Amino acid sequence: MTAGVAMEPTELEELMEARAEAAHEREVGDATRPTAQDLAASPTRIDVEGLDLFYGDHHALKDVNIKIRDKQITSFIGPSGCGKSTLLRCFNRMNDGIKDCRIEGKIALDGQDILGDCDICRLRQRVGMVFQRPNPFPMSIYDNVAYGPRGMGVRDRAVLDELVEDSLRRAALWD
Ligand SMILES: Nc1ncnc2c1ncn2[C@@H]1O[C@H](COP(=O)(O)OP(=O)(O)O)[C@@H](O)[C@H]1O
Ligand SMILES: [Mg+2]
Repeated sequence: MTAGVAMEPTELEELMEARAEAAHEREVGDATRPTAQDLAASPTRIDVEGLDLFYGDHHALKDVNIKIRDKQITSFIGPSGCGKSTLLRCFNRMNDGIKDCRIEGKIALDGQDILGDCDICRLRQRVGMVFQRPNPFPMSIYDNVAYGPRGMGVRDRAVLDELVEDSLRRAALWD
């Protein structure tokens, strides 16, 4: 050891702990934590009311009521299989493709119902998802990136080329 001042292990531990606490306080101290008033003042973007979801006979979501607020981070925390992903998938209608999946109740995005008749392409433009693992379609990278704009009617090759390159550059994947 070349340290100028020798320290007992317990002293060192205490010092490390105090530093970690100070760093934690700087990052997530009360000043940055939203109060109950801040939360109530933040407009509701996604409003879930009395949501029930069934996979066949399996009642996976039971009477879920939650307001997701603008510019707040909302986390779903719970044991594996409790329904976190199922609820998330509801927000851009990804359960639609699951056979025997049935949904009851209400979900509104900015006050507009998203469970009834709604333009799913438009909904998915507004409600994106980032998955744990990337899940590209079995086609080229170009076609994967161009899938969205093509779905919205963009056909011009030059426009698509630019969109694809720009998207890949912005995601630091171009190189
Ligand atoms: N596609 C599916 N078909 C049938 N049951 C499913 C399907 N996806 C999830 N489930 C069931 O719904 C429940 C909730 O699952 P899930 O939403 O994946 O939980 P979590 O994301 O919290 O781990 C589990 O009992 C799971 O087995
Ligand atoms: Mg999950």
